[in-house]
Amino acid sequence: SEEGSTEKEKTLAMIKPDGLSGNYTDRVKKIILDSGFSICKEMVVQLDEDTAKSFYTEHASKSFFPNLVRYMTSGPVLVMVLEKVNAIADWRALIGPTDARKAKVAHPYSIRAMCGVDSERNCVHGSDSPESAVREISFFFKATSSVVTKHDEL
Ligand code: PPS
Repeated sequence: SEEGSTEKEKTLAMIKPDGLSGNYTDRVKKIILDSGFSICKEMVVQLDEDTAKSFYTEHASKSFFPNLVRYMTSGPVLVMVLEKVNAIADWRALIGPTDARKAKVAHPYSIRAMCGVDSERNCVHGSDSPESAVREISFFFKATSSVVTKHDEL
């Protein structure tokens, strides 16, 4: 049977508040397109507290959760659906490690090395598995998503 590696795949990418406010959007999008991804959908959204908590629900018990939620609601984010063969792993490789300080040392050409600061202000997000990608894409882009509803009301 066919290996999955030749199948096109979708992943959820996000430019976080520090990425948008630091004017990294055009640079990050250029890297995305130069790396062979297509941007299928995109939307700028201001997350409120409930939405940020719900998006990061798997981290609710972590000590950094309140900081994460405060940071992710501190300004608008740009969410995108990216598509290409092996999109999920390739986007994660392109963004680099969670801690941007580590990225600057070990992965100097990664996106987080370019525009991140630490584990909180790390500029971008990427789905970590096929299951997360499905969940996160519907979270933002399904017609029934409360995020879409709130966005349309803006
Ligand atoms: S874990 O514990 O390994 O599952 O967490 P990790 O994958 O490293 O991080 C999950 C998301 O939480 C953010 N994060 C933080 N925010 C604020 N402060 C601290 N200390 C912190 N550590 C991790 C991290 O940026 C991840 O966000 P996403 O959007 O998933 O990349």
